[in-house]
Amino acid sequence: MNFDDVVVSRRSIRRFRSDKISRDILDKIIYHATMAPSGKHEQPWYFVVIQDDVDYKNKVADLIVGAGEEQLVKNPNFPQGYVRGTALAIKTAPVLIAVFETRDSQLNMQKQSMGAAIQNICLSATAAGLGSLWMGYVDLCNKEIESHLGVPSTHKIVAAVAIGYSDMTPAVPPRKPLDATVEFR
Ligand SMILES: Cc1cc2nc3c(=O)[nH]c(=O)nc-3n(C[C@H](O)[C@H](O)[C@H](O)COP(=O)(O)O)c2cc1C
Repeated sequence: MNFDDVVVSRRSIRRFRSDKISRDILDKIIYHATMAPSGKHEQPWYFVVIQDDVDYKNKVADLIVGAGEEQLVKNPNFPQGYVRGTALAIKTAPVLIAVFETRDSQLNMQKQSMGAAIQNICLSATAAGLGSLWMGYVDLCNKEIESHLGVPSTHKIVAAVAIGYSDMTPAVPPRKPLDATVEFR
């Protein structure tokens, strides 16, 4: 796959086949994540890759759905359908990568570094013929997920990425027209 194919064909996948992913591919995905640029070269990331313990992985989905149900009680317009789609991705994906930032920096730069690493994960998965889903809904219950995964208190979860061989072919969500998105001066 050339660079254009990788970037353009990456899609958010919410249903996966159960086929396992080889350790070589997972090592490469994490290597690509760590090759992302980071502000002040802080490399503020830490990854927990879960493949073999299905109950351990699925508990993350249950925590997110439970937290979504609580939001729905407070706000009938809360998009719980979107949360359930997120949970389906976690449950069907053979692999879940929990992504943590390791320093409590006040710099917005750190968020940018994390985004760069997460995008590299998604692009690396695409290049390996895999689907992925970047999930920000870990936000709904970050403390509970951190406690479930047993990471040190210095590690804050920022996202999770579900990875696996895709069991769906989603349409490309339309993008804003380029002329509304950029100006060249
Ligand atoms: C920061 C971020 C957080 C996201 N969180 C979720 C999520 O929690 N659940 C989900 O189903 N999709 C999530 N997505 C995926 C977006 O919905 C998706 O990227 C968007 O609809 C465009 O579709 P595409 O990725 O196929 O181009 C997230 C994407 C980003 C970049």
